[in-house]
Amino acid sequence: MNPNKALWEKGDFTRIAASMRESGEAVVAGLSITLGLKVLDLGCGDGTTALPAAKQGADVLGVDIASNLVEAGNRRAQAEGLTNCRFQEGDATNLSELADRSFDLVVSIFGAMFAPTPFDVAKEMVRVTRPGGRIVMGNWIPGDPTLVAQILKISSSYSPPPPEGFVSPMTWGIEANVSERFAAAGIPAERIAFARDTFTFRSAGTPAAFVADFRDYYGPTMNAFAAAEQNGKSAELQQELEALFERQNQSKAAGATSIPATFLRVTVTR
Ligand SMILES: C[S@@+](CC[C@H](N)C(=O)[O-])C[C@H]1O[C@@H](n2cnc3c(N)ncnc32)[C@H](O)[C@@H]1O
Repeated sequence: MNPNKALWEKGDFTRIAASMRESGEAVVAGLSITLGLKVLDLGCGDGTTALPAAKQGADVLGVDIASNLVEAGNRRAQAEGLTNCRFQEGDATNLSELADRSFDLVVSIFGAMFAPTPFDVAKEMVRVTRPGGRIVMGNWIPGDPTLVAQILKISSSYSPPPPEGFVSPMTWGIEANVSERFAAAGIPAERIAFARDTFTFRSAGTPAAFVADFRDYYGPTMNAFAAAEQNGKSAELQQELEALFERQNQSKAAGATSIPATFLRVTVTR
């Protein structure tokens, strides 16, 4: 089994995505979606950005490597009566089922960054975008002090070293790496814009309950707990994550969680 696919089919990312809806909608609100715009949401999960784009009138295809998330996305679109939004399985490193130049906008919010072989990902995103179209990525930033970069950093410190040749997904948060990958796909630097933005995770439960969601449902954290368990360190990992979530919680409502996280927004004009 493809380990990238196995990682994301593990657990149930919909439980984390439930905390991402508000910011997902805000990201889409900034994309100038027009009626009938052809949008590909790559690494779409269960549709945090695909559904809002469809509600604004775009014709949306969500592609994700995880079959359980594709099913969840199709269920959500159906429940909302969105006939202009469908989901199918696919791998961002090889989108051979999609025609060249077939989308006006390719969006990937914390999605394609998790695929291996980033040069292939850039090439595929560029290939399926029409000339004059846009690619918009949201990428977590390595070394950033906010939530997700820290979860991934803490998780990796409890995990075995990655296999040789592994390229960290976090390198998509480094401007020079992003430019290099798109340059190799034929996009000059002046067609790439970078901006820092904020994505807020909101959960009705406490920060500790939110950590439990990551431990029980988020593949990368599940793997870190499994590795920590083997070394008798799972309580330590739990404590470290709870301290992080408590520290970063900005919710004014008692017992609730609201944590902002900084990301790199990349906008490419094809
Ligand atoms: C952190 S989740 C984000 C999901 C969604 N974009 C959102 O904002 O809720 C990362 C997503 O990328 C998907 N993914 C990881 N590797 C992929 C690949 N090679 N091709 C397509 N999707 C991939 C995962 O299955 C998962 O749904």
